[in-house]
Amino acid sequence: MTSPVTYETEGEIALIRIDNPPVNAASQAVRAGIEAAMTRFAEAPEKVAVLYAAGRTFIAGADITEFGKPPQPPGLPQVCDLLESQEKPLVCVIHGTALGGGLEVALGCHYRVMLKSARVGLPETLLGILPGAGGTQRLPRLIGLMPAAEIITSARQVPAAEALDLGIVDRLSEDEPRAAGLAYARDLLAEGAGPRRIGELSNPEVDEAAVAALREKVAKANPGQVAQLTALDAAVRGAPMTLPEGLKEERRLFMTLMESPQRGALIHAFFGERKVAQLPELKGVQPRALAQIGVIGGGTMGGGIAVACLLSGLSVVLIERDAEAVAKARAGIEKTLAGSVKRGKLKADKRDAILAEKLVTTDDYAALSDADLIIEAVFESMEVKKEVFSRLDDVAKPGAVLATNTSYLDVNEIAAATSRPGDVLGLHFFSPAHVMRLLEIVDAEQTAPEVLATGFALAKALKKVPVRAGVCDGFIGNRILRIFRLSADHMILAGASPFQIDRALKAFGFAMGPYAVADLAGLDIGYMTRQRLLPTKPEGERWGDWPDRLYELGRLGRKTGRGYYIYDEETPNGRPDPEIDEIIAAERAEKGITPREFTDEEIVERYMAAMINEAARVVGEGIAARPLDVDMVFLFGYGFPRWRGGPLFYADQIGLDKVLATIRDAAREDAWFWQPAPLLEKLAGEGRGFASLNG
Ligand code: 3HC
Ligand code: NAI
Repeated sequence: MTSPVTYETEGEIALIRIDNPPVNAASQAVRAGIEAAMTRFAEAPEKVAVLYAAGRTFIAGADITEFGKPPQPPGLPQVCDLLESQEKPLVCVIHGTALGGGLEVALGCHYRVMLKSARVGLPETLLGILPGAGGTQRLPRLIGLMPAAEIITSARQVPAAEALDLGIVDRLSEDEPRAAGLAYARDLLAEGAGPRRIGELSNPEVDEAAVAALREKVAKANPGQVAQLTALDAAVRGAPMTLPEGLKEERRLFMTLMESPQRGALIHAFFGERKVAQLPELKGVQPRALAQIGVIGGGTMGGGIAVACLLSGLSVVLIERDAEAVAKARAGIEKTLAGSVKRGKLKADKRDAILAEKLVTTDDYAALSDADLIIEAVFESMEVKKEVFSRLDDVAKPGAVLATNTSYLDVNEIAAATSRPGDVLGLHFFSPAHVMRLLEIVDAEQTAPEVLATGFALAKALKKVPVRAGVCDGFIGNRILRIFRLSADHMILAGASPFQIDRALKAFGFAMGPYAVADLAGLDIGYMTRQRLLPTKPEGERWGDWPDRLYELGRLGRKTGRGYYIYDEETPNGRPDPEIDEIIAAERAEKGITPREFTDEEIVERYMAAMINEAARVVGEGIAARPLDVDMVFLFGYGFPRWRGGPLFYADQIGLDKVLATIRDAAREDAWFWQPAPLLEKLAGEGRGFASLNG
């Protein structure tokens, strides 16, 4: 097999090129190739070597696919040491992104030149590990402990100008990588420069107070996670040590993180995020062209969807009901874009150009005649949606994709309102639509493959995480949500308080507890959903009455200052309302329920068991293609802690037998609700996990 690392000479300069597409990950072959190149360079007449990469980026890090497998020599730490130990100068050229092991390789080299468009970073903590090839030791020696610790613990990508200011690189270049390396090497030859090793720099100073302050900040920003603080420990502990001692300590801590379940979960999330878009049935299917997007309805969702499209460079025609609604929708979009400008995410002149050239707002459906894809985001009513789709059928050009953003409704029924159901699919965005990364792509009975592929192409253009979902009430996320929310309501009726449930689930790692979320979304949403489902409510299903009481009392959550929590000047983020406990106690008394105590552990177990059980049904019925699709829905749309990997990854970690035991235990109180999903029972019986279905 040919090596991904090649060696050529240009006079006295050796040019060592890494070519391992797509991102030049430091796989075993790359490491061995660099090792061989160094052996050759050490014995060769060349006086300077340049290490650079082909393709779109310098090394993007260690090869993550090798994690969890037996290590194959040479290890990346050895490769970095070997680079540093060279007796002749070594220049590294950084283009694209030098991340993780990529930056560590660059730090092993003696001189660094960076393309102005490039970025560097140590994002290992996002994968639940720490920079394990010298990053926590060499970067502090090069730029100081605190700047290095900030980069390591934040995992952020540092742009070229800042990298130069900090001293991570020696110079910037606008050349292509090979030419940039050659130019630097020639200068070094002219100067007669020798090797220059970070390992020979003096130890970084440790400012204990600054370290303590950073530790507190990092702990607060990453609740429940171990990697960030361990990475900080590695940098701080190594600071007074010799480099070899520091590297040893780094390796020891790296190995503890490699063994942690958080590492497995975060890597599952990394690959899951990419795998959801790779559906076998779409292989080779060409999506339709996408340039102009139509949006119908400019409320919360339509406005957000329009902004998401505009920020991605697409043109938008937005339709509202009348002139007043058009003006309101446009003002809403302008306000959101102004927010982007204020936060520095969008330049003011770019915003002006977007508004002048890319956005049309009108109440005339005829303006949709050029749209390639039209997304309906009107009221959640089958009647209204059907009416809109039959009008679309008349105005949309042949081949235009027609999408609905419905949260729950039957996309097959909506599609049937047109003469072209093959062009129809669901595109379920999450609020706020220009921020939330999840996009459920609902594949209806007659959706044509290229229409589905176009949904995925839109997601890619919008930088969203697309998950295919089948048609059912609530698709993947909202269907499962309804069930685990019911499990929480049942615990409340039995004796738990909403505030205890929120606390327990926050401690588990959710961004917010379910009742705080309900207050944020508005308690009217839950009320409307219950009203809609009431006619088809199964006989055995139990609902609490108090949520309807709250709605009737006008307590709609944050927007009315009161829901489960009280929101006022004193506590803008809410404080528990004692009246809630009274309202619930009254309902228990009325129903003759004697409240019992719940431990936080039991709350989490039941809540998660309900979530996992419904998720197993969703996978079993083919609504979700694979368990990982459900996991990504929850990570990117429902605030599920990324470091736990998603409900079905978590289920595998705690063991399916344990989940089944929780379900059977709870079934003694409510056998109707707690029926184990057939897929869960099957997998548990066969001693397999959900991961076995991920392919
Ligand atoms: N190892 C293996 N595969 C990788 C990889 C890596 N480090 N980084 C990316 N890939 C794969 C992706 O899975 C994807 O594969 P697919 O096409 O089969 O889905 C392909 O490369 C392209 O990746 P993206 O779709 O993400 O491409 P983008 O252009 O959007 O982004 C990137 C490029 C910014 C480099 C992004 O891929 C990224 O952030 N990669 C991870 C970087 C990272 O975390 N590095 C640290 C690794 S850990 C480490 O180095 C440990 C060391 O300290 C010992
Ligand atoms: P909204 O009430 O904020 O906006 C609906 C808009 O549609 C209003 O501005 C209304 O004037 C307009 N409209 C109604 N009939 C119309 C017609 N015939 N032609 C043109 N415009 C019309 O509602 P929201 O929250 O934006 O929801 C829209 C859809 O998105 C619903 O189907 C909802 O279920 C779904 N959704 C809502 C989410 C949320 O968090 N709010 C999340 C995901 C989906």
